[in-house]
Amino acid sequence: MCGIVGYVGQREASEVLLEGLRRLEYRGYDSAGVSILNGTGLQLRKAVGRLANLERELAATPLHGHVGIGHTRWATHGAPSVRNSHPHLSYDGKLSIIHNGIIENYRELKNELLAQGVKFESDTDTEVVAHLVERAYQGDLLKALAEVLPRLRGAYALALLHQDEPGRVLATRLGSPLVLGVGENENFIASDVPALLKYTRRVVFPEEGQICEISREGVRIFSPDLKLLPAAIQTTELTLDAAEKEGFEHFMLKEIHEQPRAIAETLRGRLNEGAIDLTELALDPALINGLRRVAIIACGTSLYASMVGKYLMERFTHLPTETWSASEFRYADPVINAQTLVISVSQSGETADTLEAVKLAKASGATTISVCNVMGSSIARISAATLYTRAGPEIGVASTKAYVTQLAAFALLAVGLGRMLGTTSQQQEARIVDGLMHIPGQVKALLDKDIVAVKRCAKRYKDVFNFMYIGRHFNYPTAMEGALKLKEISYIHAEGYAGGEMKHGPLALVEGTFPTIAIAPQGGTREKLLSNVQEIRARSGVVVLVATEGDAEAAELADYLIEIPACAEELSPILAIVPLQLLAYYTATQLGRDVDKPRNLAKSVTVE
Ligand code: F6R
Repeated sequence: MCGIVGYVGQREASEVLLEGLRRLEYRGYDSAGVSILNGTGLQLRKAVGRLANLERELAATPLHGHVGIGHTRWATHGAPSVRNSHPHLSYDGKLSIIHNGIIENYRELKNELLAQGVKFESDTDTEVVAHLVERAYQGDLLKALAEVLPRLRGAYALALLHQDEPGRVLATRLGSPLVLGVGENENFIASDVPALLKYTRRVVFPEEGQICEISREGVRIFSPDLKLLPAAIQTTELTLDAAEKEGFEHFMLKEIHEQPRAIAETLRGRLNEGAIDLTELALDPALINGLRRVAIIACGTSLYASMVGKYLMERFTHLPTETWSASEFRYADPVINAQTLVISVSQSGETADTLEAVKLAKASGATTISVCNVMGSSIARISAATLYTRAGPEIGVASTKAYVTQLAAFALLAVGLGRMLGTTSQQQEARIVDGLMHIPGQVKALLDKDIVAVKRCAKRYKDVFNFMYIGRHFNYPTAMEGALKLKEISYIHAEGYAGGEMKHGPLALVEGTFPTIAIAPQGGTREKLLSNVQEIRARSGVVVLVATEGDAEAAELADYLIEIPACAEELSPILAIVPLQLLAYYTATQLGRDVDKPRNLAKSVTVE
């Protein structure tokens, strides 16, 4: 949700900012803009739509200078337009600001400023901050910012530049991500590490509420009351290669193909001689044995991974487990206490609703574990323990490798906790460990064979208006996730349903050209799901069947058969989703959709 970058150094700032924005475009692509400081004051360039439009604008009328800030927008307040694009200027044109997040009390602040005669140029919540800071300004931007911040409610990462202080860019965060890049005689800020990788791998992750300053000389971190704090510089393991497409047409396809390696990374060092090793979580056995319930909180694809997680937790820990959409959890009356384990799941570790839900869980005394992909992310930092999925940067807006690694992480967590609780036997553990060890190779085998049925199906059904996905138990969430993948990148309506629910309503939709994707690998519910398939076929529906290799009965029932390798039923969602990701991908590319940046969406949802 919006990407921000800032630069102070010796290079052309506009080039550094554009490079950073290219890496952050996944965060929003409604409009983009930069503001550069040079001898003639603050200069702005903005363009609606993709970053390429801003690049053209800058090529036609370049901006020179060595200090600047840049922004790529996912619209919240105000339609995508030049006037609503960031950066925004203060009323006197001396201060420019960029923002990721939402200022919740902006109306109240805007009314106050309007009453004082301040004129607004945009419909955004951000502009109020520009005016407020400029009004507080008395020759020191740091002091002015510190004075205004306590008045802001909401979530934000902000970066500011003032014409009268040309050597520095200030930034701060509350509930939105921010990272500083440390270079030689040049320093950077960004929403996410990939924006910095061309220039430096030395980074600082500021804490919430801290105010940061970058200048040519270095980075400085201040507490909210302006006490200078030590800057903890670390070297990121991410490389620029990991953030490139490496010959694939889209990031999404590259990330689908990275899944075997990503899962192997999730498992690395955590499978030890037939046993699962969770020592890195430093879990207190007394605390674990005192648990009575588990609540899993997430959004979107991570929520579907959590649904599989629920089944795994109940099977292996025998603890009643519920899943919560983070945005619902916060406004319901969840019963959470010191005997509850709250597991949050988030690729980015920055999803605003999930982050707030974890804060709520902590405040209620729960033990918090997060399953996160991004190291040092906000959710990871506030959780008592984090199981990193180590999938590497996921750039495609539609989540793929993050999902399968979350499923693998849940298998580790559920069985590992089950062993601590004594509810999982050594044999059960050995079976899952053995299954997990084979999974990366099985996903690779699946990707290596050209799944003809997937491509044929994408071609044949790309023009229908509706798809149904059905599954049961472990693969009910696969149906939900398969449907989400299709709708978000192809814009075709798709619904995921529990197979047994079909006859309670949705069966009415079925007729000759209505495709149902049925997920029926080996396992406890295969037969039941095949009965549901019979019911669909009896009504002339088209069935695309995902089944285990060699399942003759399934082969007979399928109009299109997609075979996956045999595996433990608890792990089958990891394999079953792969062809469904590809089905969504090929359908979307056949339709000429922008696969990596689907309309209206953004990768990291840092607004509620
Ligand atoms: C869909 C997708 C989203 C995310 C959701 C949560 O493909 O990517 O539904 O899963 O926005 O994001 P994280 O996992 O970063 O909290």
